[in-house]
Amino acid sequence: MNLLVTGGAGFIGANFVRLLLARGRDRVVNLDALTYAGNLANLAGCEEDPAYRFVRGDIRDRDLVDRILAEEKIEAVVNFAAESHVDRSIDGPRAFLDTNIMGTQTLLDAARGAGVGRFLQVSTDEVYGSLGAEGLFRETDPLQPNSPYAASKAAADLVCRAYFHTYGYPVLITRCSNNYGPYQFPEKLIPLMIANALGDEPLPVYGDGLNVRDWLYVGDHCEAIDLVLREGRPGEVYNVGGNNEMENIAIVRLLLDILGKDESLISFVADRPGHDRRYAIDAARIKDELGWEPKHAFADGIRATVDWYLEHRDWWEQVRSGAYRDYYETMYGDKGRHGPA
Ligand code: NAD
Ligand code: DAU
Repeated sequence: MNLLVTGGAGFIGANFVRLLLARGRDRVVNLDALTYAGNLANLAGCEEDPAYRFVRGDIRDRDLVDRILAEEKIEAVVNFAAESHVDRSIDGPRAFLDTNIMGTQTLLDAARGAGVGRFLQVSTDEVYGSLGAEGLFRETDPLQPNSPYAASKAAADLVCRAYFHTYGYPVLITRCSNNYGPYQFPEKLIPLMIANALGDEPLPVYGDGLNVRDWLYVGDHCEAIDLVLREGRPGEVYNVGGNNEMENIAIVRLLLDILGKDESLISFVADRPGHDRRYAIDAARIKDELGWEPKHAFADGIRATVDWYLEHRDWWEQVRSGAYRDYYETMYGDKGRHGPA
């Protein structure tokens, strides 16, 4: 297929582009605005592949999107492009609404107009809100987003739903739990903790550290997306999860253990406003209909991830320099929201 992948210079998008190119069956056009989270270093080597083209641009730029769809005879769109970090959405919701909602609508409209035959929206389990101690998110659950980020993703899901129901446009939605693995931007829990531990800096754990996330290796998520894109039922939502619930503090302790660092580095800091307590996914639909299951056990995936960050120190040190330093100071510095207690 001729695929348009948006946000392919980010964490999951880059892993997805690499998966497709390694497989060698598709032409892949990557449209990415290269925001702070987009990094062409994530795609080093891909540009040598004749099946790959990078276009720097915004998913809200309708003329550009129209041009790419026509020029490249695009047959399917996979939309990863988004503002993705919950903490940033608390300080500046507007960019999230602009890109995540209007960007998605622009892509949908352009793809529908050009007769693109499949559209996969990469969504998140955060659209369901928060769970108590029991239960799992199902595709039929109501959308109850709690952060501006989650609200923007839920709104985009509803726009996708409307395009299917109103126009019969073949949209598919995946809702995945927390990913980890190579190329994750070090503002997110796992790479942030690895980098801080390696620098013997405090590890800022929000609140009591007992919030639960369901962690999935990024390569497994990419395979699920690829499968849903090709074999999923249009108009359907597919949950994707790792069946691997863990408390944040357990993750942090495990990372310290793997790295041979002392637990005295742990620093409990002010909680994230509106912090969702627990996410857990029921991924029965994608397993029963499409035969997908995660291949990476967490114990192996997390060690491979730590090894990757150890071997790619240049990558994350470069990412952590520049503008990221200002962000870190705003969040975790003396006067920051998660500053020293
Ligand atoms: P990321 O922040 O690492 O990457 C986002 C990419 O989108 C960046 O390359 C950025 O430059 C690009 N982008 C942002 N705004 C754009 C715009 N207006 N036009 C074009 N490109 C733009 O994000 P990620 O963690 O890789 O997440 C990718 C997608 O997967 C997002 O839609 C996110 O909501 C979803 N998701 C993420 C997770 C997770 O654990 N990271 C889990 C479930 C779903
Ligand atoms: O569930 C899927 C979502 O997972 C995706 O949709 C989002 O794009 C992605 O960013 C992620 O959201 P989270 O908010 O769950 O991920 P984050 O890595 O920011 O935080 C994971 C948990 O760790 C959360 O409970 C907050 C906590 N945390 C995070 C940071 C950055 C800390 O305790 N300390 C920190 O410094």
